[in-house]
Amino acid sequence: MIKKYLPWLLVAAFIIIQFFQIDRTNPSYEKTKDFFANTQVPDDMKMAITNSCYDCHSHEVSYPWYTYINPVGWWVKGHVNEGIGKLNFSEWTNYTTQKKQQKLGECADRVEATEMPLLPYIIAHSDARLTEKARADLVAWFNKQATK
Ligand code: HEC
Repeated sequence: MIKKYLPWLLVAAFIIIQFFQIDRTNPSYEKTKDFFANTQVPDDMKMAITNSCYDCHSHEVSYPWYTYINPVGWWVKGHVNEGIGKLNFSEWTNYTTQKKQQKLGECADRVEATEMPLLPYIIAHSDARLTEKARADLVAWFNKQATK
């Protein structure tokens, strides 16, 4: 009995979860608080950080088409919420000097360990993938900032 209806139940469940869409709007924030507005950042570093980190660590998140399909949307939103909670470049000035340095040091560590950007993200965004050189440059730059 259950076996007969299971595929239909799964289809129904899939349809129903589509009605619980994630919030794809970015909260408004003061641009003057952003990391880039308060730090001297060379162009290549700025591009790397924007392309590889801002989709999870800022209020400038862009949500691709597949985030309209649950449970993918929920999964992506989970990463964004968690990422912003830990490190938010858009509210950079809210951190104390000590906290900023600590976060920058962690940025260097996480990028060096190839933990950031997250693997599923670089699979979906080939432009966010860091070459060996870009990774090394970014790590060196973050480390330098962390000790300023
Ligand atoms: C797809 C989303 C995503 C992208 C893109 C991403 N991160 Fe993350 N990041 C996360 C999530 C989720 C966490 C929290 C879980 C964890 O610590 O692994 C996190 C945690 C961190 C932390 C730890 C902060 C703390 O205080 O614990 C640092 C540092 C960090 N990310 C730096 C970066 C940098 C630098 C980039 C770009 C090179 C980047 N991330 C790109 C999702 C992302």
